[in-house]
Amino acid sequence: MSTPVKKVPIHLQSAQNRLLIKNGKIVNEDEIVDNDVYVEDGVIKQLGRNLIIPGGTRVIDARGKYVMPGGIDPHTHFELELMGTKSVDDFYQGTKAAVAGGTTMIIDFAIPKQGESLLEAYDRYRATADEKVCCDYGLHIGVTSWNSKVKEEMAILARDHGINSFKVFMAYKDTFMLRDPELIEVFAACKDIGAVAQVHAENGDLIAENTKRLLAAGVTGPEGHEMSRPEEVEAEAVNRACVIANQVNCPLYVVHVMSRSAAEEVEAARRRGVIVWGETLAAALGTDGTQYAHSCWRHAAGHVLSPPLRPDPDTPYNLMIKLATGGLQVTGSDNCTFNSEQKALGKNDFSKIPNGVNGVEDRMSVVWEKGVQAGIMNPTRFVAVTSTNAAKIFNLYPRKGVIAVGSDADIVIWDPNRKRTISAETHVQAVDFNIFEGLEVHGVPEYVIVNGRVCVDECDVKVVHGYGRFVETPVYPPYVYDLISEREQKPRGVARTEVELKRYAEEDAAMAKAREAAKAAAATAAASAATIGNIYTNGSVDSLKPKLQNLSCVPTLPESAVVTPSAKGPRLEGQRNLQDSTFSISEDVDEARRACIRVNNPPGGRSAGGFWSVPPKEETEAPSQ
Ligand code: URP
Ligand code: ZN
Ligand code: ZN
Repeated sequence: MSTPVKKVPIHLQSAQNRLLIKNGKIVNEDEIVDNDVYVEDGVIKQLGRNLIIPGGTRVIDARGKYVMPGGIDPHTHFELELMGTKSVDDFYQGTKAAVAGGTTMIIDFAIPKQGESLLEAYDRYRATADEKVCCDYGLHIGVTSWNSKVKEEMAILARDHGINSFKVFMAYKDTFMLRDPELIEVFAACKDIGAVAQVHAENGDLIAENTKRLLAAGVTGPEGHEMSRPEEVEAEAVNRACVIANQVNCPLYVVHVMSRSAAEEVEAARRRGVIVWGETLAAALGTDGTQYAHSCWRHAAGHVLSPPLRPDPDTPYNLMIKLATGGLQVTGSDNCTFNSEQKALGKNDFSKIPNGVNGVEDRMSVVWEKGVQAGIMNPTRFVAVTSTNAAKIFNLYPRKGVIAVGSDADIVIWDPNRKRTISAETHVQAVDFNIFEGLEVHGVPEYVIVNGRVCVDECDVKVVHGYGRFVETPVYPPYVYDLISEREQKPRGVARTEVELKRYAEEDAAMAKAREAAKAAAATAAASAATIGNIYTNGSVDSLKPKLQNLSCVPTLPESAVVTPSAKGPRLEGQRNLQDSTFSISEDVDEARRACIRVNNPPGGRSAGGFWSVPPKEETEAPSQ
């Protein structure tokens, strides 16, 4: 690893503060325009032709090149302590590699260690990263346990520390994994504070079972990793997470979508109206799970990440199609690198191979090569899936993710005609392996400008240790929460006209009247009962009814109100007679209502639990108005 370049004092930076990028094709997510870009003090100050600019400004000629927003990699794990070891790309080397590849901002995950609180994890990451990063960075926070303190700290992080996203794990049983009731609570908590929930979607219980079974059967190599967590184990969890998030109306971001069926679940959920975004990885687009069958253990183990790469060699193409057509929206790297001796921790047991691969450096090139160069996606969509969409979801837009006046001068000048071959021999990253080894890619970041400073200059990487800043991600990203609040509208009742309201008022009055009449009738009926009982003790129901109805004081009686006298004559103990009948006023009133109310099916339906909640059958079947 080379010695880091130290931060340049601000007074020495002035000569670098003004920059004119001429003759390039400006690519944003929505259009490509021929324009010049003038940058001053880290911000895009002017866009246009024939700009009037101060003397002494550095000019870069971008003729024949694309001038695009710098990449935003929303998924890295620098210095992550995982599976008993620590990822080797630290915040310096990792962000240096990011910049070398055209990425000008990363978002890492502060994942608490055992017993560490969320705030402690956040402080630890800030303390480590702030002084090392070569480009701007943000943080997501991992929620790996659930209690009231975690909930409180989520709110504090969101309110005071610029955190708007929290990741939960449905896998990594016994360490990070949460169960459904906890997911419900975390998602609801995210929703309450205006955050985005992120999910690692794999069924952890199934993985644990499959792992035991495979190891018992003697499958110990890296191929067992994929066998223990096949596609449907991922797809099931994606669907479950989407349903849970949808039920609590929480926006969801599914990290590292690695399989076709998982991508289909995201797409299907979006079609159903679920507020969800899917992120796939450079790894999933640039290589595949056939690597797990490689005869070299180190090579196969070098590709172990979770969810795994898929053995179907068409998967990268299919995921790229999803990315190009909107089924998936973001590309991350999930950069989490381990050297040979670290991967060797799982030499005799695939479940102990530290999970993670490279990608932060090559993500932009891989997406360009497999997407744009392959003719599947155009440069505008490239910008959307490598930068703008992440900026919007995590509320960095329009500060980041767009070439516009007032935006941060995070810019990549991309030469689509230049080629390079990816190799661990030449890459900037600290790791000793590259999953894209030997892949020839078109599209090279010739210049990378980070906050107005040229940090890749004619392909020469010139980053500054600690130059980057922590960038807060404010809660309630409008891109996300506008959709949520649209769905948030209170359940609406039926809008009724004045005429209808008047009619129902009249009907209410009629009911009250009927109720009074029924009360009186019941009283009279009770008084008459002794007489009736004396006369008809041996009568049948049929013979009894007309007689009862002939008594003018008795209203039309419901069937249930008619007492069947015993065939044996006098009433036996416990049998009802008219004197102790349980036929109630309310039943009677109900019957009266049936008789007097004309239209009982309110227009547009009924509200649950109210007047209309138990309609008589014929009303249910009446056509709604
Ligand atoms: O294998 C992976 N993905 N390692 C990093 C941790 C995670 O789950 O994102
Ligand atoms: Zn994950
Ligand atoms: Zn990850």
